[in-house]
Amino acid sequence: MLDWSSQDEACASGSVLLKEIAMRQKSTSKTPGPVKGTDQTSQRAATGAPATTKGGSDASTPGGNGFDVGMFLADSTAAVNEALDRFLPKASVKPATMHKAMRYSLFAGGKRMRPALCLAAAQACGGTFESAMPLACAVECIHTYSLVHDDLPAMDNDDYRRGKLTSHKVFGEGIAVLAGDALLTQAFEIAAQCDGWKRYTHQDIVLEIAKASGSLQLIAGQVADLEGEGKSLSASQLRYIHERKTSALLCCSVRLGGMSANCSPAELEALTRFGYNVGLAFQVIDDILDVTQTSEKLGKTAGKDIKAGKATYPAIVGLERSRKIAEKLTSEAFAALKPFKGRAGALNGLAQFLLQRDR
Ligand code: IPE
Ligand code: IPE
Ligand code: MG
Ligand code: MG
Ligand code: MG
Repeated sequence: MLDWSSQDEACASGSVLLKEIAMRQKSTSKTPGPVKGTDQTSQRAATGAPATTKGGSDASTPGGNGFDVGMFLADSTAAVNEALDRFLPKASVKPATMHKAMRYSLFAGGKRMRPALCLAAAQACGGTFESAMPLACAVECIHTYSLVHDDLPAMDNDDYRRGKLTSHKVFGEGIAVLAGDALLTQAFEIAAQCDGWKRYTHQDIVLEIAKASGSLQLIAGQVADLEGEGKSLSASQLRYIHERKTSALLCCSVRLGGMSANCSPAELEALTRFGYNVGLAFQVIDDILDVTQTSEKLGKTAGKDIKAGKATYPAIVGLERSRKIAEKLTSEAFAALKPFKGRAGALNGLAQFLLQRDR
């Protein structure tokens, strides 16, 4: 039996996740303080990141702002990889099997989209890569842990991830479970090393990450995903799954980026809308790619969703309509960027990139 009682309610009232986040916001909002890290020049000097767009950045123009998203991603990925390497215990540190396993999955070649979104959101709010980096690394650790567990035989049972054998195939199931546990815990250790900001304290940051990855959000989505196997679900039930298992962490990533720039409540609200919609589009595209791409291209087994009887957009509404839904969600995300005017080039470019990605 599906444990759907609250989920049907959730589906009926639309974007419940957004409401839950807004309620949390009200209970923790602080007196506005000065914005830290607004010096874009020193940010670029520190990170090598391109902070300007090539040709004016009208955030409401999807992909039409000339922002070099490829360069942004190359820079953010390099900076994130370097920081993760610094934050994680070396592979030789005992228990070496554990640190090898954590690093194996973390450095297997993920797209690093969540940290990129976090850093881009920091930039949109006038912050720095440096200040956002612990949070960007924390969300990547949580994401990687969720993949290690998602691939286990008891879950999606995949032999490949990020173009390599999955953790349990290399290290065995016990170590893979523990590597996931350790990456999840590592995320909080890294996040605790952030500065803390006038509007957003360490407590707010910890709550933000815990809520997004906990039993009401990411885990809730994974539970519903498993319980939905082989069942015929409605489009709104499927949306609930996507909202929780994927959108919650993407939304959290951009919100954390904004928080690291001590963003205003209005900016945080705009980032929430942006992240929520980009997060939903992300999973629709993931479902489409499972049907349309090869395993080689994806670095994970293609065509698995149908075999496992997963509820996906292509299965429920067909490929063509799925693409339209992803496009619609992405335009909702673009619309949310209006308040940022010229500063949202990276967020805008990333949303466009995610819609067009082929892996
Ligand atoms: C895959 O995420 C899992 C989903 C939530 C769909 P990504 O496509 O971001 O995986 P990596 O990080 O690039 O491996
Ligand atoms: C994974 O969704 C979501 C999480 C890990 C939280 P999928 O099961 O669709 O991801 P892939 O296709 O295995 O990457
Ligand atoms: Mg899954
Ligand atoms: Mg999976
Ligand atoms: Mg998938």
